[in-house]
Amino acid sequence: MTERIPVHVSEAEMRAQRESEARIAAMAERPRTYHVVTYGCQMNAHDSEKLAGMLEAMGMTAAPVREEADFVIFNTCCVRDNAERRALGNVTWLKEIRKLRPELMIAVCGCMIQEPGMAERILKQYPFVDLAFGTAALHRFPSLLERVLTERTRVVSVDGEDVIAEDVPVRRLRKDAAYLTIMYGCDNYCTYCIVPYVRGRERSRRMSDILREAEGLRDAGVKEIMLLGQNVNSYRGEDGEDFPALLRAVDRISIERIRFMTSHPKDLSDGLIAAMAECEHVLPQFHLPVQSGSDEILRRMNRHYDRARYLDRVRRLREAVPGIGLTTDIIVAFPGETEAQFEDTLSLVDEVGYDSAFTFIYSPRTGTAAAKMPGQIPAEVATERIQRLIRLQEKRQREEMARFVGMTEQVLVESLSRRSDRQVSGKGGHGISITFPGGAEDVGRIVKVRVTGLKNNTLTGERE
Ligand code: SAH
Ligand code: SF4
Ligand code: F3S
Repeated sequence: MTERIPVHVSEAEMRAQRESEARIAAMAERPRTYHVVTYGCQMNAHDSEKLAGMLEAMGMTAAPVREEADFVIFNTCCVRDNAERRALGNVTWLKEIRKLRPELMIAVCGCMIQEPGMAERILKQYPFVDLAFGTAALHRFPSLLERVLTERTRVVSVDGEDVIAEDVPVRRLRKDAAYLTIMYGCDNYCTYCIVPYVRGRERSRRMSDILREAEGLRDAGVKEIMLLGQNVNSYRGEDGEDFPALLRAVDRISIERIRFMTSHPKDLSDGLIAAMAECEHVLPQFHLPVQSGSDEILRRMNRHYDRARYLDRVRRLREAVPGIGLTTDIIVAFPGETEAQFEDTLSLVDEVGYDSAFTFIYSPRTGTAAAKMPGQIPAEVATERIQRLIRLQEKRQREEMARFVGMTEQVLVESLSRRSDRQVSGKGGHGISITFPGGAEDVGRIVKVRVTGLKNNTLTGERE
């Protein structure tokens, strides 16, 4: 891997953005509202919090529904075809609202815009879109919007270096839990994946900046942080600090709960496993995407580990952190996947026993190596495989989750339960959702709960 020195956006450039925000705020003749629609992963959800932060600095306030907002912004994902279609479908739908309210402004941003040719296509096919910008331009959103407003023109921006922008305003959706990005981009080039193309080269934030943000969150009363990166274990701080070192340093800040995602199995080191076991605040949970149980498929996916190595990491994790909550991502019907290779995935899922798994049908992405591979699998075969996989996973999940019954978990309450307003739900330390009796006043608190049962793959409990 070539070492790259991260390029931080200059303070002058960041100041110029804040000045754009102030000028936009001064332009408004009446109070304006915004609505951000988010697709995709935690990284995108956090980018949406930054968009909201910048919009508030422009004097706008959040509208609860997009139909009522003066400014609607779609933060898109393109990791699979259906994510992309959903985003485009929703943008089209706004066209009708724009007819009724011609002053409505619409922007589209995020990973999808960073795909080659996509921004131009959007401007051409969606004439009602005012602004389109990619992930590389996120921190320049205020100056781009100012151009739209002052020059009364449509603006598109997809170019830009792979930079790190510190101190972008953030409006967090939750007060009790917060995302904290530690690195951007990805250099792994798994052959199916578009992320390296739309998120740019891997680059890590300075450890000092991360710790400063974590301290700020602790002082604001945040109870849980999630450290974010496409591959957190390749984190490299300004003085060469690795991810375990960062984790230990964040642990000393004494935020009650620390989680992180995502880890790549190829560089899940013994050092990280030791840090997991020793850090007081790091929760006993691990998201470890396996993608496939077949060595041949893993090789063609360019994952740099095989089944044996993966299973060895799982065993070590479980030895070091007994009862650890383990989750994964799996792709079925990768090009050329035979029935026997798919069965290798089934047997791995059976053997590991995940607490939860995100399962996907392979979706060809233009520009990736796998899209050009022979042996693309017919949709019927893919659907049949994913159904078999889901059935097995649900069975294994029920069996594994039974270990929590009778145990006590500290649950950070996220919301009222969907089924009843006398029940609340949140995640225990192992990352698994637990529902128990409670009310709105519990949201954002950590409550001690004894797990009493297992219903439809979720845990139920009683307050202790
Ligand atoms: N950086 C993370 C997550 C990347 S995207 C990681 O490496 O684990 C999240 C998940 O989407 C991946 O783990 C993978 O299972 C899935 N995914 C990515 N590209 C895909 C594609 N082209 N088709 C289907 N699933 C895909
Ligand atoms: Fe995609 Fe692989 Fe990078 Fe994850 S590690 S973002 S799956 S290329
Ligand atoms: Fe995330 Fe989708 Fe982009 S998964 S990194 S929002 S392509």
